[in-house]
Amino acid sequence: MTNIPALIGFTEKNQNWYVEDILLSDLAKQFGTPLYVYSKHALVSAFKAYDSACFDSNGQRKARIHYAMKANSNLAILGCLNQLGAGFDLVSGGELARALKIGADPKMLVFAGVGKSSNEIREALKAKVRCFNVESIAELHRINQIAHEMGLRAPISLRVNPDVDAKTHAYISTGLRDNKFGIAYYDVLKTYRQAALLSNIDIVGIDCHIGSQITTIEPYLDAIDKVLDLLKQLKKEGVRIHHLDLGGGLGINYGNESPPDIHAFTKSLLNHVHNSGFADLEILFEPGRSIVGNAGILLTQIEYLKTSPDKNFCIVDAAMNDLMRPTLYDAYHAIVPVQASSKNTHTEKYDVVGPVCESGDWLGKDRSLAVNQGDLLAILSAGAYGFSMASNYNTRARPAEIMVDGKQAYLIREREQIQDLFSKEKTLPN
Ligand code: LLP
Repeated sequence: MTNIPALIGFTEKNQNWYVEDILLSDLAKQFGTPLYVYSKHALVSAFKAYDSACFDSNGQRKARIHYAMKANSNLAILGCLNQLGAGFDLVSGGELARALKIGADPKMLVFAGVGKSSNEIREALKAKVRCFNVESIAELHRINQIAHEMGLRAPISLRVNPDVDAKTHAYISTGLRDNKFGIAYYDVLKTYRQAALLSNIDIVGIDCHIGSQITTIEPYLDAIDKVLDLLKQLKKEGVRIHHLDLGGGLGINYGNESPPDIHAFTKSLLNHVHNSGFADLEILFEPGRSIVGNAGILLTQIEYLKTSPDKNFCIVDAAMNDLMRPTLYDAYHAIVPVQASSKNTHTEKYDVVGPVCESGDWLGKDRSLAVNQGDLLAILSAGAYGFSMASNYNTRARPAEIMVDGKQAYLIREREQIQDLFSKEKTLPN
């Protein structure tokens, strides 16, 4: 049985699926498939659910939302969020370039990542980002050195690895002591003491991020308590910390989960920090998935049905290169026909698979579908870590992306052309 998450922006009426006021089948006709389709309304609603929770009872802003653009870094999505007052969480020079391209205020950028290159650090210092989220002692020294060479001071936060189990997929759990992320809990105080002595470092914050697709609040509360213990000690030692960055990671409903409501979750974390005696701390959040995940779908067309007594396959024109999550994390994405089938048919169980030459190229397993060749399917909840993780494996051009706002559809990324894929390659001379 297909468990379908409740969605904003995508609705079904009489077996026809719409994105806002447009039929998905019309978009397929106009732009072809596979096609990523986003609802602006869904994107804006999710951001506002976070942002409206960032104020205290006097209407004072106490927190900021820094969208983790790795989830989906299309310029149109970044532009919309920028207009709504979002900051951004970056993890590469490439993401910094995107933020600057859409005119984001550098003071709204935090630069995270476990392996920042010298060049990336230089670019971020030049841009005057708000903060470097530092993940090792070696990185701290490199940032100090480069800031010194440039005659600048680098604002930093140390990323704490709190050794908390986020109870999520092993590949997207980041706050355990054997994960590569952050500074080991017992080394954090020592590292702040070192940072305080460095000539070109300004300590401005502390941060942690414990994982992704987290569906309960408890691991966050555990991590916060551990970080606040460090803050108490730092306060005693006279180290001033202005902000606490709680990372991202709130899960979404893909069909089988019931994560906390965004607004209530944000308020609870904020209150938890404030009620622990830290009412002056500015709080930052870095959500990615919970802002775009359910704002996007991947539209695909059925190429062939292949049936046998053992197994049925529904072979579609999207593949693992377009949406990696099923094969990489065994992730469930609901799959629905976007209109009544072209011919009468009965329901069968299918594995929905792509054309790529790997048995791991599947998008859904054992799905009950009443479909025919040529029908269109929507793979739901594909807005986060869909396009941003897509590749050109099998020399497949990546899909186009469309953003819908009411009755209007905007092409926000053209479909790649096959020639683009090898335009930078050269054959050897004869
Ligand atoms: N902040 C930091 C430091 C992060 O590493 C991440 C995600 C986020 C924020 C945003 O987390 P979110 O709110 O999106 O959960 N490709 C995987 C997810 C990888 C997450 C990596 N870090 C997936 O498709 O499930």
